[in-house]
Amino acid sequence: DQIRVFAPATVANMICGFDILGFAVDYPGDEVNMYRVAEPGVRIRSIQGDDGRLPLDADKNTVSACVKMLLKHLGIEKELGVEIELIKHMPIGSGLGSSSASTVAGLFAINTLLGNPLSKEELLPFCVEGERLACGHGHADNVAPALMGGITLVRGYEPLDVIALPVPEELYAGVVFPKVDVPTRDARQLIKEKVLLKEAVTQWGNIAGLVAGLYRKDYDLISRSMQDVLIEPTRAILIPEFYAMKQIALDAGALSFGISGSGPSVVAIARGQEIAEQAAARIQQHLTDCEIDSFKYVSAV
Ligand code: HSE
Repeated sequence: DQIRVFAPATVANMICGFDILGFAVDYPGDEVNMYRVAEPGVRIRSIQGDDGRLPLDADKNTVSACVKMLLKHLGIEKELGVEIELIKHMPIGSGLGSSSASTVAGLFAINTLLGNPLSKEELLPFCVEGERLACGHGHADNVAPALMGGITLVRGYEPLDVIALPVPEELYAGVVFPKVDVPTRDARQLIKEKVLLKEAVTQWGNIAGLVAGLYRKDYDLISRSMQDVLIEPTRAILIPEFYAMKQIALDAGALSFGISGSGPSVVAIARGQEIAEQAAARIQQHLTDCEIDSFKYVSAV
């Protein structure tokens, strides 16, 4: 009994929807190989691609801790034995939902090995707990799209209410990761807890406009709406060359540009693959000129 699961990277917030909107990309993503073994318990066999940063201790590693949580919920943690190989294909602390991809892959793998006792909707709260373990806060805007695919809206947290949104087919994302580490925990501490009503009105107008734009496949409306007045001004400080990259993306014809999740990855949203490629390539060139290493990924939304 063994299974291999891939879960994709995700762009949380979708620029204007802090903690409620997110989408999955085709790549990169993380891979979990899970094996059923005779000896009861959950163990990590190996982790690749993490530069030794993630714990092998099954109680401390988020993937195994979540698997244990699920087995406990099902009342079979004392009899079942599983071993996990985790292969990370994306950087940690990049703003691409790295921990979420691993957690979702692990939980999807154990659920499938057990014959799907839980639906995807039922699995989601366990994924959110994984996020809480990984960064101290249980937001669902990475795990929901990693598990469900496409664009998701977290309509509410108590109880968790996740809605799949339509994905206009020409929507592409050019993601660039400037190689600096910004842990989500730190990036969350930075943002102010209180917002001005005037700014809130602008923000929820944008969120509603984006949702309407997705339903109508109205790329101009999507472009006008994907703007963030609440979080970006604060978090942009943590990201080298943020405003220069924004200008480059918009000059290349992107519909919008902003921070992916809590950063430092940035995302250019474009109509069509070519513009997304162009925007990402020019941003990367700019970073190279500034002697900042980076990765780029271009994918359909
Ligand atoms: N919504 C979360 C944040 C996503 O912006 O902190 C973290 O990837």
